[in-house]
Amino acid sequence: MSTSKRQMRLGAFIMATGHHIAAWRHPEAQADAGLNIDHYRELAQTAERGKFDLVFVADSPAGWDRAKDPEALRRTAQGAHFEPLTLWAALSQVTKHIGFVATASTTYEDPYLLARRFASLDYISKGRAAWNVVTTGADVSKNFSISGHPAHADRYERAEEFVDLVKGLWDSYEDDAFIRDKESGVYLDPDKVHLVDHKGKFFSVAGPLNVGRPVQGYPVIVQAGASEPGRELAARTAEMIFTANQTFEDAQEFYSDVKGRLARNGRRPDELLISPGIFPVLGGTEAEAQANYDHIQSLVHPSIAWNILARLYKGIDLSGYSLDDPAPPLPENTELNKSRLKLVSDLVSRNNLTLRQFYLAVATARGHRTVVGTPEQIADAMQSWFENGAADAFNIMPPILPTALTDFVDQVVPILRKRGLFRHEYEGTTLRENLGLQRPPNGFVVQAGQQQVQAAV
Ligand SMILES: Cc1cc2nc3c(=O)[nH]c(=O)nc-3n(C[C@H](O)[C@H](O)[C@H](O)COP(=O)(O)O)c2cc1C
Repeated sequence: MSTSKRQMRLGAFIMATGHHIAAWRHPEAQADAGLNIDHYRELAQTAERGKFDLVFVADSPAGWDRAKDPEALRRTAQGAHFEPLTLWAALSQVTKHIGFVATASTTYEDPYLLARRFASLDYISKGRAAWNVVTTGADVSKNFSISGHPAHADRYERAEEFVDLVKGLWDSYEDDAFIRDKESGVYLDPDKVHLVDHKGKFFSVAGPLNVGRPVQGYPVIVQAGASEPGRELAARTAEMIFTANQTFEDAQEFYSDVKGRLARNGRRPDELLISPGIFPVLGGTEAEAQANYDHIQSLVHPSIAWNILARLYKGIDLSGYSLDDPAPPLPENTELNKSRLKLVSDLVSRNNLTLRQFYLAVATARGHRTVVGTPEQIADAMQSWFENGAADAFNIMPPILPTALTDFVDQVVPILRKRGLFRHEYEGTTLRENLGLQRPPNGFVVQAGQQQVQAAV
């Protein structure tokens, strides 16, 4: 094995029954997956067997709205699943190496409580926790006793303050604050406990946190928004960025744009890993892969198709259209998930899609890159982005679970290894070590050191 060659990182992006919107109807799917811990245990262990860096679940603090479309609700498996941190805490006990990325919203969470939960997960998993920082595109305000969904710019302003505050709270205790000397009766060095004492635009928090400094210093910070303020937030604070790109050109533009923002924040390009999603539809031959793709697409019920379109064409009446009409231009919406709307708009205009082709394109992986082919072709598709400035890592988005993850691990991972692109063994014990990321120093200690240097000159 070549160890000097740059290595690809792999994440298993898990959507209960699979990423395809109709996955739960497939004969191989675990239909009750969202609330089945044995299913998730199998997935985490399969990903670990494949030496994946991490498993990841997306999340939004809201269920499907029955009033909006009861027929679609009747036919979707996406409305009921576990809360991510609870799920990962359980699965960290039946795995040893794999990292756990949990999504949590800076718009709808509280910084103190969130800092505490992620620090706890980092201890419970022995250094394998990561936080996917999202600002939540969808309006879920009705679940939170507030009058409305904050505007895009406000959500990002709050996110900036939120992430800094959480990091400050994680620094409440220096790494060697706990002495725990039974003989002398000294448990803790109070000089190594710090108050964040934060008073900002959105939050007022004293500290300290009631958990020690996380095993990794900070759990790994992941970010998944790709709008202008999303990219800025990532360039300043994130260590991995999840993204959706359809074409190589878009992926390359995103990659170089985000990497180009790092130096301005005093960071090196390798301090932020870029991980686009890929939805692989495998087959032993090209024809078999295409047949697998056609089969799963045939499972999309018409009411789900119209629901997908209605959500994309918010505010536009589609009742006069048939599925074989050309897709009209999408409305501009500047407040929700900006980057994804742009991506699907480009998809329609680039390919002159009909409404049917459009919903089928989105049903697979909501705009992420879909590759239909043999294991070699999937590996080729990954290698070309990895080696040409478009990706450091990939979020593998199995269409059907559990089988498509098992197939990827058994059929694609060996090819990536043979090409020297992916590890044979984990390099370290924490997620940071495996991703090749530094353990951050305690901000209070760094600040005190700087003050001492200033006093000395
Ligand atoms: C791979 C990936 C995963 C994402 N997961 C979530 C998620 O779990 N919850 C969520 O609210 N947004 C998720 N997003 C979207 C956003 O992170 C984002 O917070 C938001 O919708 C605004 O995005 P924007 O900066 O592109 O406008 C995800 C995006 C990507 C690319």
